[in-house]
Amino acid sequence: MSDDNIPRLVLSRNHCMPVIGLGTGGFQIPHEVAKTAVMEAIKVGYEHFDTASSYETEQALGEAIEEALKLGLVGSRGELFITSKLWITDAYPDRVLPALQKSLRLLKLEYLDMYLIHFPVSSKPKRDSGLPSKEEIEPLDVKGVWAAMEECKKLGLTKSIGVSNFPVKTLENLLSVATITPSLNQVEMNPTCQQKELREYCKQKGILITAYSPLGAPGTIWGNNRILDNEILIDIAKSHGKSVAQVSLRWLFEQGVGFIVKSFNKERMKQNLEIFDWSLTENDLEKISQIKQMRLNQENPLFENIA
Ligand code: A2P
Repeated sequence: MSDDNIPRLVLSRNHCMPVIGLGTGGFQIPHEVAKTAVMEAIKVGYEHFDTASSYETEQALGEAIEEALKLGLVGSRGELFITSKLWITDAYPDRVLPALQKSLRLLKLEYLDMYLIHFPVSSKPKRDSGLPSKEEIEPLDVKGVWAAMEECKKLGLTKSIGVSNFPVKTLENLLSVATITPSLNQVEMNPTCQQKELREYCKQKGILITAYSPLGAPGTIWGNNRILDNEILIDIAKSHGKSVAQVSLRWLFEQGVGFIVKSFNKERMKQNLEIFDWSLTENDLEKISQIKQMRLNQENPLFENIA
């Protein structure tokens, strides 16, 4: 698979994003495991990597990029697309720039391609690193935090800025105060969480969508097998001689969105790239549109009132 086979979404006149990115989020991923996975992914053709301050994989990703450049697996930094995210404890106007600078230090990069506000909420720093309780969550200062994000872009520390998990209502607030429209909104999206209303709104406003948990995060504590075990998707996969994962990713591609899929297994990494030379039929799309909808993470307070 050559890099030229990965289609791109246009973010702005001079900035494109490879549609598929490798996710590096997970529960306490060991440093060497993340680093090795990124090296493998670069070897099989991935160019787009997604991390976040809260994933604690920025350092491993940075080391893998450094090594890939040294070994000549990547010609130059500009061939890669790197996303990171502002954690909720840094989602205060005066903490945004230092948080991005810390991410850049860990990633050993001069700039990010995309910096996202991770959640539409804030939380005062905690003594432990766990998720905040309901009482600890505060409303996001949308105007102040977005102005600080805009400043990061103006300083050249990130090429594009965007948001994650933002519902329509928070996007409306943001757009009413923004000078720069967010390039994208990264949200849960897959055949069992199709985000029809949010996608329609974002399309009208020129905001791209990137899907996380495109396979429903099977094998994780927050995800499940509802996509891989879905009968409709299994039938469609059989009819094309593809896997259910490939059908799910192909469906996302045909919806015109980007997607962040996490696999640290070389064969599955390759399989997930093999979705660009075939297509779903009208009948497949109709069946997928009928799939029962449900969300991940319903019980977590952080996931209340998010997209
Ligand atoms: P693994 O890393 O062992 O490949 P999501 O991207 O929706 O969050 O899902 C991530 C999970 O899906 C990971 O546990 C990953 O496991 C698994 N996965 C990724 N690609 C595939 C695939 N092609 N087939 C089956 N499982 C996959």
